[in-house]
Amino acid sequence: MRDSPFIVRFLRSCNVDVRELVYERPHHLSEGTVVLGITKNFLRLPVVVSVDDVLRHCLIVGSTGSGKTSLAKRLARLLSRHGAVVVLDWYGEYCDVADRVIRIGREEPVEIPVEDPLDVVSLLEEVLELTPPQSYLLTKVLRKTSNVEFLLDLLESYVPEARWEIETKASLLRKLSFLVRYGKLLRIAPPEKLNSTLLSRGNCVSVDLSSLRVLELKRLAVLSTLNSIRYIQERKLFDGRVFVIVEEAHNVASRGDLLARYLAEVRKLNMGLIVITQSPAALGFEAMNNTNIKVVKTLRSAEDIQTIARSMNLSSDRYSLLSRLGFDEALVDAPSLSEPILVELSEIT
Ligand SMILES: Nc1ncnc2c1ncn2[C@@H]1O[C@H](COP(=O)(O)OP(=O)(O)O)[C@@H](O)[C@H]1O
Ligand SMILES: [Mg+2]
Repeated sequence: MRDSPFIVRFLRSCNVDVRELVYERPHHLSEGTVVLGITKNFLRLPVVVSVDDVLRHCLIVGSTGSGKTSLAKRLARLLSRHGAVVVLDWYGEYCDVADRVIRIGREEPVEIPVEDPLDVVSLLEEVLELTPPQSYLLTKVLRKTSNVEFLLDLLESYVPEARWEIETKASLLRKLSFLVRYGKLLRIAPPEKLNSTLLSRGNCVSVDLSSLRVLELKRLAVLSTLNSIRYIQERKLFDGRVFVIVEEAHNVASRGDLLARYLAEVRKLNMGLIVITQSPAALGFEAMNNTNIKVVKTLRSAEDIQTIARSMNLSSDRYSLLSRLGFDEALVDAPSLSEPILVELSEIT
């Protein structure tokens, strides 16, 4: 409490109830801070989150057009002062704030990092929504190879050992034909050959996915880039913090648990994700609960409002507010705040 602004300490000393009005200052300010805006009350105090808290992930939710991307663009600039920023730019909207744009599918292939051939199973499971028998058969086939480039040949020449495998092999080949169709856009890379120039301190790099027309390709590009950044951080090929802005996060994984697992696993790697979605219900609880800072813009669907309200433990007055927030407003929760607080998102730098 001693860290509260003077005006708050003063009001408290006069026995004024200031519970609803204030936030606690971040307790670990030394590593830098980002100002999100000012409190939407007469005190108009700056609302500050620590960079350390962003490294434990941030969620931005709101209906289409509620201003998520506009806020994320501003965060991209602010966070680049504290490390490298990479945007998984689903619609190519960050060209104006990025220092560099990598146009995937036009100038650059989708680089897929593969350390072990079996890595490909979990990647394709997610991207192509494989059924358990399909994943099982793919694992069986991949165990026999050290080179995933020959995956399709290997599968074609595989002789089914049981009746169920005949149908599964056929359906798997159908799903994997996607790899033949778009093979020219893909490049498999061992982790040591990854392009670590993706990360550049003080810079914001947009990985522009807008020219990939197929959902599966976009997913493959997002998950591959996330894996590449994780490998780069694990091997300490880049020395510093990395902030990754993930647009359309509900589209990234067909099952929310993959993103939730990723969020939990990269916490120790000096990597913070800014997860953006219009649909908290589709993203899932576990992924949401793995984010430390939550910025809620206006939401229309009752299901989405209920999901986020449950995840933030909102009281009923805040709950009804969620469908009526203005473009520059958000309900923000962060470890530095004593409770979710209404914030005017303004350009304080
Ligand atoms: N202060 C503002 N008030 C109203 N509309 C705005 C404001 N600032 C930007 N816009 C416009 O609103 C639109 C939606 O914003 P955007 O950030 O893309 O929303 P989202 O990412 O949530 O779909 C954009 O075209 C943006 O230019
Ligand atoms: Mg947007």
